[in-house]
Amino acid sequence: MYQQIVVLTGAGISAESGIKTFRDQDGLWEQHHIEDVATPEGYARDIDLVERFYNSRWENLHSGEVKPNPAHVALAKLEAEFPGKLLVITQNVDDLHERSGSKRLLHMHGELSKGRCPQSLQTFVLREPFSEDNCCTCCIPAKRLRPHIVWFGEMPFGMDRIHDALDTCDLFIAIGTSGTVYPAAGFVDSANHHGAQTVEVNLVEADRHSQFQYHLTGKAGDIVPQLVDTILAGETVGNQSFNQQLASALSA
Ligand code: OAD
Repeated sequence: MYQQIVVLTGAGISAESGIKTFRDQDGLWEQHHIEDVATPEGYARDIDLVERFYNSRWENLHSGEVKPNPAHVALAKLEAEFPGKLLVITQNVDDLHERSGSKRLLHMHGELSKGRCPQSLQTFVLREPFSEDNCCTCCIPAKRLRPHIVWFGEMPFGMDRIHDALDTCDLFIAIGTSGTVYPAAGFVDSANHHGAQTVEVNLVEADRHSQFQYHLTGKAGDIVPQLVDTILAGETVGNQSFNQQLASALSA
């Protein structure tokens, strides 16, 4: 049985929940320019445009149509039942991991449901979309909240905790991420370097595919529940009975 597992999730884990990924066909970055909506410079140029972009994603998330899928639920089950240490690092800004019950969770790219005071850096839960009326309560005069999102050129959250976990884990699993954005794309290298087993779950061969020791190809919602069950049964990825158990579960 493993002692310490790190899971990295990307937009692909939420695709089956009705949230668009960034780089797949019809993804968010096909419809918007990164430099306009996901950089501090874009925000300084046109606050309203950036707020409209995050507001439409906020509204989608709160529409009632978006719900956690079996992959999110399985990771919450892993947290509840795995006797060792677990950290789920997500690049996603949705709250679908929380809605399924995950608590040992780190939002390295921020959270759509929060705004941040640009002066004190205090975060506030957003009960309504952004507008010029959405201000902090920590400053006088109150400051307009900015999205609590890590933009290109900004430092992701929790990097010390992430590196500590990667240095000591014995299993690293990346689910539904294209492996194009660093530092997250480099986590597999740290895990390999420290002797962990590394597993990729994706629909396709992603950019850092060759860095992973094991590949499980298909939808996260089909694969992750089976993967979690085989880990909880005490199997080690790659051994014969793991492969048999996973293969028979996936074909059932
Ligand atoms: P991408 O959109 O780059 O990649 C999504 C990945 O998920 C692709 O490799 C797909 O093949 C895979 N995928 C899609 N549907 C899937 C499914 N049902 N099951 C399994 N895999 C599936 O999203 P990320 O890698 O998360 O950053 O993007 C990383 C960062 O780039 C984001 O956090 C965001 C973006 O710019 C910021 O905004 C800072």
